[in-house]
Amino acid sequence: MKTETTTSFETKFEEEVYEGLTASPKFLSSKYFYDKIGDKLFQDIMALPEYYLTNCELEVISNHTAAIAEIFKGRDGFDLIELGAGDGKKTKVLLKYLDEHQYNFNFLPIDISQNVLDQLKSSLREELPNVNVYPQQGTYFEVLERLSEYNERKKVIMVLGSNIGNLLHPQAIHFLKDIQRSMVEGDLLFMGFDQKKNPQTILDAYNDKTGVTAAFNKNILTRINNELDADFNLDDFLHWEVYDPETGTAKSFLVSKKTQKVSIKKLELEVNFQEWETIHTEISQKYNDEIVNWLAEESGLKIDGQFTDSKNYYKNYIFTKS
Ligand code: AVI
Repeated sequence: MKTETTTSFETKFEEEVYEGLTASPKFLSSKYFYDKIGDKLFQDIMALPEYYLTNCELEVISNHTAAIAEIFKGRDGFDLIELGAGDGKKTKVLLKYLDEHQYNFNFLPIDISQNVLDQLKSSLREELPNVNVYPQQGTYFEVLERLSEYNERKKVIMVLGSNIGNLLHPQAIHFLKDIQRSMVEGDLLFMGFDQKKNPQTILDAYNDKTGVTAAFNKNILTRINNELDADFNLDDFLHWEVYDPETGTAKSFLVSKKTQKVSIKKLELEVNFQEWETIHTEISQKYNDEIVNWLAEESGLKIDGQFTDSKNYYKNYIFTKS
């Protein structure tokens, strides 16, 4: 029997699902959205007309490629390290330019998923065969630790997609501090931050008409069903999104449509839901210069430059060690 005092869990997933579904209010971590199905659903989200983030960042990179490349360039070349590389659609614009203009660089994509890295490596071999690609599998933390000794020449660390937005501010500072510690003088951090804007635009991005985001949010329940032998009925839960324009925080919930009991066999756990009870699953933080500046200061970094799209929806900042 898994009780608070005698619990031993086989995986972090089991432990965190147990913790989140026995808490009040209930919560689950959005990092568990991403299995094979979740990766595909996220790809579909990025192609949605409502999900403006991807196109805005693509516009930033496409319109400022030469300027970005000049900032990245080091005396002896540079190592471009991308955390959470994904399918590389936006990065490829930059890589193509660097390759065509004969910049001296290596590309080190980092991702937790070996599957994602393998796909990226083989597509780059086809599309940009001259680029040196050295994939690194692992969590950000593990790989950053490894890379802190990687100091033979300038390092450019890149985090795209406003991935930092899935972290609460204290966690974001922790993440930025980890990056900062792996940097030496002259190294750069290039990071994308989705900006505060018309609240309706943000709400629509996380509440698309076709229901892809709802399916993405509910995929966490599918994972619990498949991996922990549970019996969540997805139709009994509602995807619900809120956005607070004061704090800039978008929050995703799954809301139980009725009073119900869900059994999670692998955890020997029965979870009771009251009608309209919530599970908080994700935050997607939106920023402005003031917040980004504050995060940078708290993490020992400073903003050294920024690029934006034509609507000022999205910004990519250059940071150095302060
Ligand atoms: C990966 N991350 C930055 C996305 C976001 O915008 O928070 C994940 C996502 N969630 C719902 N739609 C997209």
